[in-house]
Amino acid sequence: YDYDLLVVGSANADLVVGVERRPGAGETVLGSDLAVHPGGKGANQAVAAARLGARTALLARVGDDAYGRLLLDSQREAGVDTVGVLVGGAPTGVALITVDPSGDNSIVVSPGANGRLSPQDVRAAGCLFQSSKVVSTQLEIPLETVVEVVRNLAPDSRFVLNPSPPRPLPRELLAACDPLIVNEHEAKVILGESAVGDTPEDWARILLAKGPRSVVVTLGAEGALVASAEGVLRIPSVKVSAVDTTGAGDAFTAALAVRLGAGESLAQAAAYAARVGALTVTKEGAQVSFPSAAEVAAR
Ligand code: RIB
Ligand code: NA
Repeated sequence: YDYDLLVVGSANADLVVGVERRPGAGETVLGSDLAVHPGGKGANQAVAAARLGARTALLARVGDDAYGRLLLDSQREAGVDTVGVLVGGAPTGVALITVDPSGDNSIVVSPGANGRLSPQDVRAAGCLFQSSKVVSTQLEIPLETVVEVVRNLAPDSRFVLNPSPPRPLPRELLAACDPLIVNEHEAKVILGESAVGDTPEDWARILLAKGPRSVVVTLGAEGALVASAEGVLRIPSVKVSAVDTTGAGDAFTAALAVRLGAGESLAQAAAYAARVGALTVTKEGAQVSFPSAAEVAAR
């Protein structure tokens, strides 16, 4: 394989403002100065993987504009192969993000060019799929594009999905996941509120029964759960004080995908990914906060 990881997904300019509290409907609040960071769940995963030393490629679409150039620069600086980053069709995607004093975020994404990444774009990138050991994606691009991804996987490559933002998923997509990575909110949307059991262990088992070969449930400060035919296992959390959680899930997913590709077990890979995710929340921004392999090892 030429690539350890191919990420298919979104690239957004993150427009970030710190707030004391979020405004309600019809209300105005003053926030901090604006920060503009490279983001998007796909672009974030690619940068996180490359920082960890993985040979990484990104298949995405950005606009022919300043934000598109910001995103391409950030990918190249991290060492991501951008041969699959298409330019044009609509303006670059934008994420409007507020971060509160506890480090939690609220995000509204305007997809822009991400919404134009088509099944045809996936088919045209066939050689990237043939040369990638692991392929990961998220749901900030059209669902039919994600479905086309699983139809183009090389026979032995592994597929990892973080269904964010969540929506009900077709069986074909669920069946390809190894693993499906969800947080509590995503688990509930995918299962439908009524079908959810009491504990995260219940959600993991019910999700697994829907077809994925494995499932990871991330529990924020409570760590994570991994579930496969071998059973359900808890992965302890790493204690840190949160400054900005934006992109932590993307870094977790990327780290997990990279370590699985390197041959680790799901539990080993998830424990490593939890350390990577924890390090990212101690700094502002998404991509700008992702650690190198050496920084992870030093902790
Ligand atoms: O997961 C974090 C990301 O979600 C941000 O970078 C933002 O662009 C949105 O896609
Ligand atoms: Na961060």
